[in-house]
Amino acid sequence: MRRMEVVLTRKLALPPTASVLDAGCGVGDTARTVARTGGVHVTGIDGIESDIAIARQRSARAGEPGSHTGFLLADYHALPFTDASFDGVYTMESFVHSPDPPQGLAEFFRVLRPGGKLVMFEYSSTPQDQLTPPARTALLRVCELSGMPGMLTLIHGQLERLLQQTGFAVESTYDATAKILPMLRAFSVLGRLPYALARSLGRGDRLVNAMSGVEMYRHQDAWRYTIYVATKP
Ligand SMILES: C[S@@+](CC[C@H](N)C(=O)[O-])C[C@H]1O[C@@H](n2cnc3c(N)ncnc32)[C@H](O)[C@@H]1O
Repeated sequence: MRRMEVVLTRKLALPPTASVLDAGCGVGDTARTVARTGGVHVTGIDGIESDIAIARQRSARAGEPGSHTGFLLADYHALPFTDASFDGVYTMESFVHSPDPPQGLAEFFRVLRPGGKLVMFEYSSTPQDQLTPPARTALLRVCELSGMPGMLTLIHGQLERLLQQTGFAVESTYDATAKILPMLRAFSVLGRLPYALARSLGRGDRLVNAMSGVEMYRHQDAWRYTIYVATKP
């Protein structure tokens, strides 16, 4: 995961004084790596208040100067920033949660300055009519229980089309599925026993992360993982 964050910093390719938005920052680990390795200022926003509190605590504990990371409770579909206020925007596995991807992309476009860079590390899904019934059932369960409506609507190729429709120039799309398989295998191995136990008690759906790790590793035909790099002309 840390290596992916360094790749993300490289893909942003921004100068040290740049100001960057992390849309869906969680507890801020990615934001801290990007700020540290790129020398940029990262503003992380997330819709979960407790994650924002943890992100602030961890940055303070890590001795991150306040000028390098800042965190704010906000929804990426309605960003509390003026137009053209960032040099870069990125998402790290947060856009799959969007119920309205065009609105999210419109907001990223709005807050980027002309020439600004958008980098997205995101899952997409295989059209459901191309999946076997067990793979389709697993995909639907994972997306429903993990709150990922965007993963279902963002079938392969769709995010690239939406980026273009929003006005972005798509510089590259890189299929990184094979690169993240070792990480997913680790999730799957860690989750196998708790998930099996929970299932034997009829409560498999309660352990969402364990269930997702096991089912998505089992049904690798149901998803892909892509890195998108785009610019606002
Ligand atoms: C899988 S986590 C990834 C967190 C972080 N990017 C990372 O890689 O560690 C997805 C995050 O996106 C956030 N999120 C989902 N929808 C959001 C929205 N509309 N606005 C802001 N944050 C959102 C969630 O609260 C969650 O913290």
